[in-house]
Amino acid sequence: MNQPPRLVVLISGAGSNLQALIEQQQAHQTFEIVGVLSNRPQVQGLTRASAANIATQVVDHTQYPTREAFDAEVAKVINTWQPDWIILAGYMRIMTPQLVQQFKGKLINIHPSLLPKYPGLRTHQKALEAGDHEHGSSVHFVTEELDGGPVIAQIKTPITAQDTEQSLVERLKTLEHRLYPQVVSWLVQGQLRLQHDNVYFNDEELSTPLIVT
Ligand code: GAR
Repeated sequence: MNQPPRLVVLISGAGSNLQALIEQQQAHQTFEIVGVLSNRPQVQGLTRASAANIATQVVDHTQYPTREAFDAEVAKVINTWQPDWIILAGYMRIMTPQLVQQFKGKLINIHPSLLPKYPGLRTHQKALEAGDHEHGSSVHFVTEELDGGPVIAQIKTPITAQDTEQSLVERLKTLEHRLYPQVVSWLVQGQLRLQHDNVYFNDEELSTPLIVT
């Protein structure tokens, strides 16, 4: 029997998106999460991984003199797990170009905004301050440009007059738990690829991101 594709998930915190992927794995067994790496010790995501019998490793960025030295260790750990895909799920470190290049085309990230709007931090606040009528999350291939890689898919939600930063954080996370498993499922079925910084879905170049509902 063929082995299912091997996923490594990188986290920095709560790991609710990791949990959504663990539940997808348990329900369908179309991939195997072979390792979870966190740059922060003792976060909830590590507990979730251990509860699902997934190997974990902490590479604490505060213990490394430079970003390059930290990323070299991250790459070493990722390679010990021999993944097919590397999934960033709330991983809050900017990667060096060397790390990105090593895994380019196999590396995806989820970001809480409708990219190219609002790369970086405090995306919910920025959407509110701009008076936007909708907000959302994006899954994209990671390239050397921060939150700038080609977008694969998005999920959207209207912003209402009652919304606050916190309400948007919570609502969007629930939606992310639909978006990320869907994209990972396309990925492991070989339906997505990155070529010359363009996304191909079922061998056709995407001109706009796929919308998950
Ligand atoms: C998610 O909302 C994700 O989009 C965001 O962090 C949260 C992690 O939540 N990622 C970024 O901001 C990356 N720039 P989780 O730890 O509960 O999955």
